[in-house]
Amino acid sequence: MSTATRTAATAKLQEQFDAGLETRADFTIDQPFERYRAVDHAVWRQLYARQTALLEGRVCDEFLAGLVRIGMPAERVPSFDEINAKLTPATGWRIVAVPGLVPDQVFFAHLANRRFPVTWWMRRPDQLDYLQEPDCFHDLFGHVPLLIDPVFADYMHAYGRAALAADDAGALPLLARLYWYTVEFGLIRDAASPNGVKIYGAGIVSSQGETLYSQQSGSPNRLGFELERVMRTRYRIDTFQKSYFVIDDFEQLFEVAQTDVAPLLQRLATAPAFAAGDLLPGDRVLTRGSRAGWQDDGDV
Ligand SMILES: [Fe+2]
Repeated sequence: MSTATRTAATAKLQEQFDAGLETRADFTIDQPFERYRAVDHAVWRQLYARQTALLEGRVCDEFLAGLVRIGMPAERVPSFDEINAKLTPATGWRIVAVPGLVPDQVFFAHLANRRFPVTWWMRRPDQLDYLQEPDCFHDLFGHVPLLIDPVFADYMHAYGRAALAADDAGALPLLARLYWYTVEFGLIRDAASPNGVKIYGAGIVSSQGETLYSQQSGSPNRLGFELERVMRTRYRIDTFQKSYFVIDDFEQLFEVAQTDVAPLLQRLATAPAFAAGDLLPGDRVLTRGSRAGWQDDGDV
């Protein structure tokens, strides 16, 4: 996470205090529904319409099924209670309102208890295409539809528990990369689709530009998912990804969820990391990137 992002999150937290919204020790608040203005609902409506039209045929079936099962409203910012009324009976997950990014240990503790923190505020109309920090549309539209899928729901829970247990600071970058390349920017195999992939990661499905780029561009590498490889690969937070990792199906994430990652984290804690665009001899290469538009530095 960049310093700028932390600063922005802190500013939002301050705004929340200033507004008199009571913030609990776990950073959650009651969703302040009365604070949404017409412009917030209009931005939701516009993003929802644009992304659902774009995602048809590009996103995995589980995501679209999740949108329907949750009954995600198209016209306005959803009430978190109405989302939970569908989500919690299905997989035990519940969304909770937060001011934005929360400290790692707080975030992991939420996941380990099947609570997904959702930023309550909406981006401005001039931020439809790019926002450095997560907002309500990214967190809710991007992440929550897959939380009603039982396999993905278990993966997220297992991730939270593993991350919470890994209090060794050396393990955090490894776990952050796993989250990044699956939950945020994951692709899944689909033989009939461009480049043999569909999308499922929330950072992609909530972004018009990366939806098109990740599936159709010739620039990035698309590599078969392999746990250790992913944990060792740095990533981009300021540009589209140089490499995407492609799972065969959600069962592959289920296998990760069954894995005791503690020995792996210990073994990899001192292993050197790979650059975001590296290709290695053992990689399963679906597409080799042309590297067009890549920046030489800035991997995190
Ligand atoms: Fe996210």
